[in-house]
Amino acid sequence: MSETLTIALSKGRILKETLPLLEKANIFPVEDISKSRKLIFDTNHSHIKLVILRATDVPTYVEHGVADFGVAGKDVLMEATTKNLYELLDLKIAKCRLMTAGVTGKELPQRRLKVASKFTKTAKSYFAEQGIQADVIKLYGAMELAPIMGLADLIVDIVDTGNTLKANGLEPRDHIADISTRLVVNKAAYKTKYQHIQPILDMLSGAVEAGE
Ligand code: ADP
Ligand code: PRP
Ligand code: MG
Repeated sequence: MSETLTIALSKGRILKETLPLLEKANIFPVEDISKSRKLIFDTNHSHIKLVILRATDVPTYVEHGVADFGVAGKDVLMEATTKNLYELLDLKIAKCRLMTAGVTGKELPQRRLKVASKFTKTAKSYFAEQGIQADVIKLYGAMELAPIMGLADLIVDIVDTGNTLKANGLEPRDHIADISTRLVVNKAAYKTKYQHIQPILDMLSGAVEAGE
């Protein structure tokens, strides 16, 4: 096979769980990603390359077709404005929930709500669907501080064990979405490189099933 396939991986906790899955699908980087400052890696298959990106950049690389596949959290995909990709497979890793949260025991005020989140697009559409008036404030991290500091009445954030909320005097309120990591593919690549893409897809779905 001569045509190169590039898989864009989300660094951080998703990467840690993606590499064992790729290994089960017989795709190994030729060097140790965790010990390297490189961002692009060859694999045991001469036609498959891995690139390591900030999670929020993965949909962009796949949309523009410079990466054929992407591995990204559903939270990131919901927030992205990209349309040029298909979500092909639930990799069932980095599972968590997207929820609203507020100060424990504190009632919401009878006015337009202030909501802080990294996920502003998702937060806006969630409150609009609920018919709740809300102003959404963009934050880039440490969302849990916002209700404590009085910046917001609620946050929209990722919850796994609930320990981060608890440690900051917050409680989970409403469930917005179940989150896990998904495999996405560029729409054009899916058609033009189908013969190369399908075997990888089969190997990855086998690896996901084996891990269940
Ligand atoms: P970031 O620097 O973007 O926060 P992370 O390494 O924390 O990067 O990974 C973020 C992704 O991992 C999220 O997009 C989500 O899909 C998933 N995730 C985030 N937090 C958790 C968690 N506590 N438990 C499980 N998955 C999580
Ligand atoms: C994520 C998320 C929450 C926390 C939830 O943060 O933003 O703060 O995990 O997990 P828990 O319910 O198990 O406590 P992360 O650890 O990724 O830190 P970050 O702010 O650096 O992204
Ligand atoms: Mg994080």
